[in-house]
Amino acid sequence: MSDQNQQASREHYAPGAPAEHLVVFDTTLRDGEQSPGISLDTGEKLEIAEQLARLGVDYIEAGFPVASQGDFEAVQAIARSVGAQPGAPAICGLSRTSLTDVDRCFEALRDAARARIHVFISTSPQHMEHMLKMNEAQVIAETRSGVARAREHTADVEFSPQDATRTPLEFMIEVLTAAVEAGATTLNIPDTVGYGIPWDFGALIAHVRAQVPGDYVISTHCHNDLGLATANTLAGIQAGARQVEVCVNGLGERAGNAALEEVVMALKIRPDQFPGVTTTVRTEELARASRLVARLSGYPVQYNKAVVGRNAFAHESGIHQHGVLADRATYEIIDATTVGQVGSQIVLGKHSGRHAFADTLGKMGLVIQGDALNQAFTRFKELADRKVEITEADLEAIVAEELGRTLVEGYHLDALEVAGGTVGVPRARVVVSREGVKSEASAEGNGMIDAACNAIREATGTDATLIGFNVSSVTGGIDALGDVVVQLESRGLKVSGRGVSTDVVEASARAYLAAVDRLARVRARDESRRTEVGP
Ligand code: KIV
Ligand code: ZN
Repeated sequence: MSDQNQQASREHYAPGAPAEHLVVFDTTLRDGEQSPGISLDTGEKLEIAEQLARLGVDYIEAGFPVASQGDFEAVQAIARSVGAQPGAPAICGLSRTSLTDVDRCFEALRDAARARIHVFISTSPQHMEHMLKMNEAQVIAETRSGVARAREHTADVEFSPQDATRTPLEFMIEVLTAAVEAGATTLNIPDTVGYGIPWDFGALIAHVRAQVPGDYVISTHCHNDLGLATANTLAGIQAGARQVEVCVNGLGERAGNAALEEVVMALKIRPDQFPGVTTTVRTEELARASRLVARLSGYPVQYNKAVVGRNAFAHESGIHQHGVLADRATYEIIDATTVGQVGSQIVLGKHSGRHAFADTLGKMGLVIQGDALNQAFTRFKELADRKVEITEADLEAIVAEELGRTLVEGYHLDALEVAGGTVGVPRARVVVSREGVKSEASAEGNGMIDAACNAIREATGTDATLIGFNVSSVTGGIDALGDVVVQLESRGLKVSGRGVSTDVVEASARAYLAAVDRLARVRARDESRRTEVGP
């Protein structure tokens, strides 16, 4: 591909962007949502999409519309709301090559101001033999027909040869050439199983650029099975890729995808290595995007995670602390404010009224109304009685919990009483209600948290078993909000729930109840979703 062609493609598909613009294609809502145990509903997906728009990504891959009715509706809702706003990211849907899949994908996208169809088919011998049961000629024919059909719907078509890094080079070039001839405008090179090594993956991108004629943008899609997803993505950019497929917090199948925040910050901090290549991501929104995705997905961010981990700007040793106090740059390459990690920013206190509460949420970009606003305000008041300083992170936590609960009209924790200590058996009594119907139960446990969860099991009649429990604090200090994530499993379905409170037993009960709710919803919605269709 000539430099001139490459520039032309970029100008065409990222209108108004500077010449060396790197297209940031976020796939948190599609590949990220394929992380085990994550199942976001439409309201949650919309919230994340809104934050991605604030973050300034170029594309939101909103889902895989043919996978289930729930996926279709979520992609459609995002296309109609976030995707219809002026200057919004383009909305993308994933599709297999079959014509009915492609048509269904576009059906979900049609209301977006800019729509992209992402067509994929497997090209490695392993996938072709064991999954597709197709030979090379059939895969090429499928590629041509799927891409051509997508071009009938939109001028913006991406093609991916799945498992590219384990595909024989010559065959991959043939497939990619066919895709471009059929009308693909972006060629994505997925390292589906995270097999790539940076210099090798970079060479692959350079090879594609040199061998596949036509007018297209090259893209990377790197999985993290060897912990190399970000490194491979950067090697791809150096070799000429001008789109990166990434997920917030590095979510994604198995070990995840390249983390959006890592790739974007690498470019910002080391422009010497990527001369002139820039993104339009508003990096101050990174921490909030990370917190939101962690909260809604139920996947906590590891403490030492690059860029968005809570310890990314913490200095433990005396020498380091001394250095940073004298000059931040001694031990920090990133200024915490540039990624929105500004520590405990105090925003409200116990005397703040409803108006100030709603106003502050508005300034934080949290749109919440009606019952959800009333309930979030009640929670805020309860919290303000127990905690002197309420930070942005605290507010996000209670609002996210209330929003999730109100949208689905699920269980409400009306009362919780626990007794425990070193003498006697810990006991708990709970009262929960759903759609006005109350139920009460008492139980014992091997601790107060266990007793509270057992009582909820009794009260809700769930058959789920607890398979994961994680507690962390939203901010620092003795009165910090405890943030609990539980994972439940029932008949092959895994779900997570989150709860926050200054009392960790209460946070655990809330998290348990949220997970029970989610289980009921997921089961009712699309029990067969994962087994029917999957990329
Ligand atoms: O990892 C992968 O190959 C994918 C494709 C669908 C692009 O997610
Ligand atoms: Zn993937």
